[in-house]
Amino acid sequence: MLKAANIRKKFGGLVAIDGVDLEIGRGEIVALIGPNGAGKTTLFNTITGVLDPEEDTEITFNGEDIVALDTHEIARSGLLRTFQIVRVFGEMTVFENALAGALFGSDESISQEDAEERAREALAFVGLEEKAEMEAGNLPIAQQKQLELARTVASDPDLVLLDEIASGLTPGEISELSNTIRRLRDERGISVFWIEHIMDAIMGTADRIIVLKSGRKIAEGTPEEIQNDEAVAEAYLGEDHS
Ligand SMILES: Nc1ncnc2c1ncn2[C@@H]1O[C@H](COP(=O)(O)OP(=O)(O)O)[C@@H](O)[C@H]1O
Ligand SMILES: [Mg+2]
Repeated sequence: MLKAANIRKKFGGLVAIDGVDLEIGRGEIVALIGPNGAGKTTLFNTITGVLDPEEDTEITFNGEDIVALDTHEIARSGLLRTFQIVRVFGEMTVFENALAGALFGSDESISQEDAEERAREALAFVGLEEKAEMEAGNLPIAQQKQLELARTVASDPDLVLLDEIASGLTPGEISELSNTIRRLRDERGISVFWIEHIMDAIMGTADRIIVLKSGRKIAEGTPEEIQNDEAVAEAYLGEDHS
């Protein structure tokens, strides 16, 4: 589904992403981990067209070359992302947020009626249907994150990129969120590529983990393999886990 070869991104003299190859298959949940400053967010930004990668970077999605496309074109082709900072539209209602996702979705010709139906269904998917008329900014943070997932579901993507969506949640909320993410895949067939520093959130959820350090991929494998990987343990030595 997503195939990238030799992703590279420089900021002036700093090589933030230094030749990363990766693939995300249909129906996979893949986690991306690595110490602070490893380049995880930058990698997402280059994939989703927020930043232009260096010239020799190759990225295809569903067989289509997406390197030169804009973020909204990439989103329309079925590749969506969330941001490290929650970005619900705080002054809009919960329903309007989900509706925005439905209207922004891959099918440009969707009718208002169908979009509203999709929005309602997406809210039900995350259990927020009873909060539909609330102002989104008044939801507790955990529910704002569920709303971000609902907005994503309403857009009907093939692949969603999540950036540290579990941050700031209690263990109970994290397990609920992980559960919703598994259901995205199991019930909706949505593939997930997920940056996360909270290991508990991904250990029981990810099929595969990719580890980034200083812009390079240093390991890739199942959660068990990554937990026992010496290079990974070393990468995190001295790292502040706060
Ligand atoms: N817009 C930018 N301009 C300059 N340097 C940046 C920019 N964004 C990120 N960086 C640098 O690139 C490196 C990777 O950052 P980032 O992708 O945010 O890491 P991570 O998400 O893994 O914590 C860091 O050294 C960071 O300071
Ligand atoms: Mg980041």
